[in-house]
Amino acid sequence: MYGFVKRDIRSSVYRAVSDFLLKNASDDWRKLPVNSASFHLMFGERNKLPFGRLGHEPGLVQLVNYYRGSDILCRKTAMIRLFKEFFKSTGKPSPKWLPESFILCPKDITKNLQKAGEHSSVLLRKSPKPDERNDFIKAAEKLAKQEGKPVIWIAKSSAGSKGEGIKISERPEELIEFVDTQTQGFIVQRYINNPYLLKGDRKFDIRSWVLLDTNYNIYLFREGVLRTASESYKADDLDATLGHLTNHCLQLELSPNFGAYEEGNEMFFDEFNSYLWKKSSVTMDTMIIPQIKDIVKASLTIVKERICTSCLGYQSFQLFGFDFMLDDDLKIWLLEINGAPACAQKLLPDLARSLVQTAIDPVYPPSDPGGRGDNWFQRIT
Ligand SMILES: Nc1ncnc2c1ncn2[C@@H]1O[C@H](COP(=O)(O)OP(=O)(O)O)[C@@H](O)[C@H]1O
Ligand SMILES: [Mg+2]
Repeated sequence: MYGFVKRDIRSSVYRAVSDFLLKNASDDWRKLPVNSASFHLMFGERNKLPFGRLGHEPGLVQLVNYYRGSDILCRKTAMIRLFKEFFKSTGKPSPKWLPESFILCPKDITKNLQKAGEHSSVLLRKSPKPDERNDFIKAAEKLAKQEGKPVIWIAKSSAGSKGEGIKISERPEELIEFVDTQTQGFIVQRYINNPYLLKGDRKFDIRSWVLLDTNYNIYLFREGVLRTASESYKADDLDATLGHLTNHCLQLELSPNFGAYEEGNEMFFDEFNSYLWKKSSVTMDTMIIPQIKDIVKASLTIVKERICTSCLGYQSFQLFGFDFMLDDDLKIWLLEINGAPACAQKLLPDLARSLVQTAIDPVYPPSDPGGRGDNWFQRIT
């Protein structure tokens, strides 16, 4: 009998995984009190994982649902810095799937933080960092010259989500002024102004779920979801936020048309595949998924050396949410990586079951290995 501890009470994914173990694997698994030291598996709270205390139980290979240090991929400034350093140090060309990006830190962040009422420990942690505003201005000027018109940029806060703290503009100085009033690092990124559009000229982004197992094998979940805008995309009107930002919360809160085109502004891969075929005579499998796999593989490989647990006394696995955009040349771009993704309600049972099969069963084999059903994670490395 194996025992697991569930410390994260907010994650819908780990609630579903825990329910799966208790309902479908009750001969093998039991849930232990949250403070138990002797467990096989921990569903921990992100950012509060007791990594230092793991792996010291004699005879136990403890398993935990996060990789220590993976956050470097999941904060926007850290990810951009990591990718830039990697490509510079290896002499490889920058990846074509990453929109050109620059890191900006508010010029007087300490003053901004004080104004916002932050106390001294936060002030110390967020001391001003070198930024790339001069490179950004130069690149923006050069591109504008090349294209014969100003290009559009999007500023996004490093740890932001839900479309908060975002500004889109073709004036670099306006974006810099905006960032200088903020209390955290930002990236400014080339705005993809030719998005592939759905019926009603609507923009969308794509969420794919990716699982990294204890051996650093990478798996892609076969189903994914498009998060759609419910207002049409107007390239020239940068203030019409709901046509430009596809964040679910934003659309739900502000658009009177939420749900008018797709239930919950979500479209799943099968439906999009039919649309793609009708509109552009290509399929997800031939055109989209291979690009997604390449990006996922490259991103996780870059960070492997820093985070893999092969020499440690405990083992990790982790579920990531990769967010992409598709442009009208059918090219996929990486927008961001989420280290603790939620999952569309409809897919939760399949995701939970497949996660157990891929990440947990190989470490703690079930007594009835045939009894699980389909595994929707496909290994890509
Ligand atoms: N480079 C970009 N070009 C075009 N649209 C973008 C770009 N980056 C982000 N967006 C839009 O803004 C939304 C929010 O950006 P994202 O990077 O996901 O930040 P967050 O979700 O943390 O607020 C995306 O879902 C997408 O619709
Ligand atoms: Mg996002």
